[in-house]
Amino acid sequence: MGALYGDEYRDNEPAQRIDGRVIESEKVVALTFDDGPGQYTDLLLDELGRRGIRATFFLIGENIIERESTVKRMSEEGHLIGNHTFSHIELTKVSAEAADAEVNNTSILIEQITGVSVRFIRPPCGSWNENLLYRFNLIPVLWNVDPMDWNTHNEEEIVQSVMSNVHDGDIILLHDIYRSSVSATFRIIDLLKSQGYRFVTVDEIMID
Ligand code: NI
Repeated sequence: MGALYGDEYRDNEPAQRIDGRVIESEKVVALTFDDGPGQYTDLLLDELGRRGIRATFFLIGENIIERESTVKRMSEEGHLIGNHTFSHIELTKVSAEAADAEVNNTSILIEQITGVSVRFIRPPCGSWNENLLYRFNLIPVLWNVDPMDWNTHNEEEIVQSVMSNVHDGDIILLHDIYRSSVSATFRIIDLLKSQGYRFVTVDEIMID
């Protein structure tokens, strides 16, 4: 079926497919941030902007309310925004009607703020199936590198976990609702840059 996952992509020599260019020495990585926007998101956007890096944000609908300006800024500054449901539910465990509301209300909210169509979804807990794929015209985005930042809240552990697991073409999962994750992100960016990585949004890694 047509689901695209990072691991499948990794086997397809990702660096050679970026913009159709063949650059064997270039390594790419996608930073993705779930569960926001939150109180540290603007700080993260400041730093990403200062370093000229674009990331991908999978937003929770109910967290967008009262943080519309952060979402608008995210879009204006070139970041990719995807859907992470309205209230962080596992889509495979609710009725079709509930799934519709969770996904569609979130996309509508994002599109009203940004004027940009939502094309990607990160299903909470990675819960996804073929029915959902056909029900929603959205591309599911999972991840290759998961430092469990939501669990450790430990900047050092997050940095070490990412740096010891990352490969060319990987999608890194982080959460911008935690200060430790945002602080770790700044160090991860510097380390990956020093290793020759270029930062891309997930559409550059996943779209044929
Ligand atoms: Ni989540």
